[in-house]
Amino acid sequence: MKKLTPYFLGLASMCAIACQPQSDQKASDGKLSEAEIEARINEILPQLSIEEKSAMCHAQSKFSTPGVARLGIPELWWSDGPHGVRAEINWNDWGYAGWNNDSCTAFPALSALAATFNPDLAYIYGVALGEESRYRKKNVILGPGVNIYRTPLNGRNFEYMGEDPFLASTLVVPYIHGVQSTGTATSVKHYALNNQEDDRMGVNVQVSERALRELYLPAFKAAVVDGGAWTIMGSYNRYNNQHCCHNEILLMDILKKEWNFDGVVVSDWGGVHDTKEAARFGLDVEMGSFTNGLDAQLGNFSWDDYNLAKPYINAIKKGELPVADLDDKARRILRLNFRTNNGWGPGRMTCPDHMKTAHDVAQEAVTLLKNEGAVLPLDPAKKLTIAVIGENATRTLVKAGGSSELKPKYEIAPLDGIRNEFPNANIEYATGYTSGPAFYGFAPAPKEDQAKLKAEAVELAQKADLVIYVGGLNKNYQQDCEGGDRTAYELPFNQDALISALADVNKNMVVVLASGNAYSMPWIDKVPAVVQAWYLGSESGNVVAEVLCGKINPSGKLPFSFPVKLEDSAPHSFNDPMVYPGVDHQEIYKEDILVGYRWHDTKGIKPLFPFGFGLSYTTFDVKDIKVSNTASNINVSANIANTGNVNGAEVLQVYVGKVDSKVARAQKELKGFQKLAVNKGASANANISIPVESLKFYNEETKAWELEKGKYVVYVGTSSADILSTTEIEL
Ligand code: BGC
Repeated sequence: MKKLTPYFLGLASMCAIACQPQSDQKASDGKLSEAEIEARINEILPQLSIEEKSAMCHAQSKFSTPGVARLGIPELWWSDGPHGVRAEINWNDWGYAGWNNDSCTAFPALSALAATFNPDLAYIYGVALGEESRYRKKNVILGPGVNIYRTPLNGRNFEYMGEDPFLASTLVVPYIHGVQSTGTATSVKHYALNNQEDDRMGVNVQVSERALRELYLPAFKAAVVDGGAWTIMGSYNRYNNQHCCHNEILLMDILKKEWNFDGVVVSDWGGVHDTKEAARFGLDVEMGSFTNGLDAQLGNFSWDDYNLAKPYINAIKKGELPVADLDDKARRILRLNFRTNNGWGPGRMTCPDHMKTAHDVAQEAVTLLKNEGAVLPLDPAKKLTIAVIGENATRTLVKAGGSSELKPKYEIAPLDGIRNEFPNANIEYATGYTSGPAFYGFAPAPKEDQAKLKAEAVELAQKADLVIYVGGLNKNYQQDCEGGDRTAYELPFNQDALISALADVNKNMVVVLASGNAYSMPWIDKVPAVVQAWYLGSESGNVVAEVLCGKINPSGKLPFSFPVKLEDSAPHSFNDPMVYPGVDHQEIYKEDILVGYRWHDTKGIKPLFPFGFGLSYTTFDVKDIKVSNTASNINVSANIANTGNVNGAEVLQVYVGKVDSKVARAQKELKGFQKLAVNKGASANANISIPVESLKFYNEETKAWELEKGKYVVYVGTSSADILSTTEIEL
């Protein structure tokens, strides 16, 4: 009998490092090198039958793929993603399994991470998430998401990293490094052009190759090339009339050939439609294709019916499809298996360190948009009567939103956080409006009488010394949720009228809004303070209250623009359903390379709040801005002094624009930034170096990146609209 090789490292070696942060482990501690992994794969592959290889290429349950039991090759377990490890799902259906051991730490949403402008936080976020995934025995966490924010109506913008490809690229790389330092694979999603939820399974995106290359692909490229992501998830939509889970241009030409991706392409759940395309055009693992698992014997659509199961095996056996593609898929899947089963520690879950990470990220994310008369921070020593109004003061914002929903060990609600931080205040609460229970899939009609709720809230506000309004979107269907876009740019449930009515009776009002999207603020002139609070996860209420009382000095910056009205946002300015949301499954990105602030700046449209904007409780003086350049780099330095009374942090931002370009260009694009923590009375130096390479545009005729010679303008500032210096340079 043939002696079988023990292909995978034993569990014993893992136990020695239990409860250690895995990031401390060095690659040398008994792990197989990449070359050793390839050698083992070379030994294994010839021993596998076509059936065994095909089995690894598709799901065996909702969130697992089989190994090869007779050879001791383990199954792979996949989990959402991307803000925490999702609760266990049933083997055969989408129901929750009801386990008692699967509560997690809920980290802030990726849109909040983007608002930190802090790559170090992205790394520690990744480490903590990777450790939680390990503890839950997951090989792959389904995230991060880096689809570019094109329209404020997109239901999933909260899961992505904003409208700027440089910002998203800068944050996605450390996130991936953090997660994968624990032995958990990331799955960058949704590749590519999944910029809306309406018609997400059908829409065919028509976009210029230039906009594709300059806006929609850079963060994926950074994730693969610089981040070294071990898996990537194809998106539901189509590009070039081909579904993105088996798209020849995106997966074969760009991802696998141009970027040399050596990992696994996994489909989005149910995103595969054609066996031959799936076999030939880059898909490696097919998940969730609307089967109910192992019920073949009951006559249902079963896991044998996956495109990459029996239909694939039959086509190979008939000689219609080459076995070489299957071998390539099996090789990649084995590589993923070895990479994630390589003597890593067992991870840890819901530990104080992870809760602290959730808190650290949240506290740098909160973005102060308005603070007239320094109404914030509020003095917790004062014996005030505070009216807290708004449904999001008490509602869960973690257990909603679609596949990213989580079962957190705890989630602090803003009302509880406020009660803790303001023990001397008399706090009274009214919901003011209601949206109905948390639901995913349809919008439940609220049963309560909205007029009555509004009247109660106005009465409470009238009697109070101060109003803290906590509202916004709430991750219900069409309110920042997978599967549907928002139907309006306004805040839902008549909140605009409510906020306005509250401001009429009490001028001393702070508005705190949760969302992962921009919205209009018709009441902005009536209220002195506005706080953008994102979706902050487990520590949400604590962080909101700590910002309000000044324990935290906000330093978040907007990762996307807030247009005044919907028509000011690029795709909506055309007022053409072909541009959004598409007609007969076809959609044209007519705004081309001008998305977000690129559109506002170039067209001279003033936003309500610009990209990169966020206030602080202190003041900063940015001095000595120096801009110089060599043939390869633009160097920017500046001194930032904290001239106020509290410690704080500022983000210096460098944008570059081309003068007299031969092609259409945005007025300017973000090319560098640095976040600096500066104590009161102190100052710090920012030093930003921008590779000249990054100024290239994509030439569609030559199909190459091209650097134009001549004059460029370097804009240095604290938001895309707050520019402190402009310098012309010659390249
Ligand atoms: C979502 C993915 C998710 C997958 C598994 C899909 O519907 O688009 O983001 O990872 O489901 O839950």
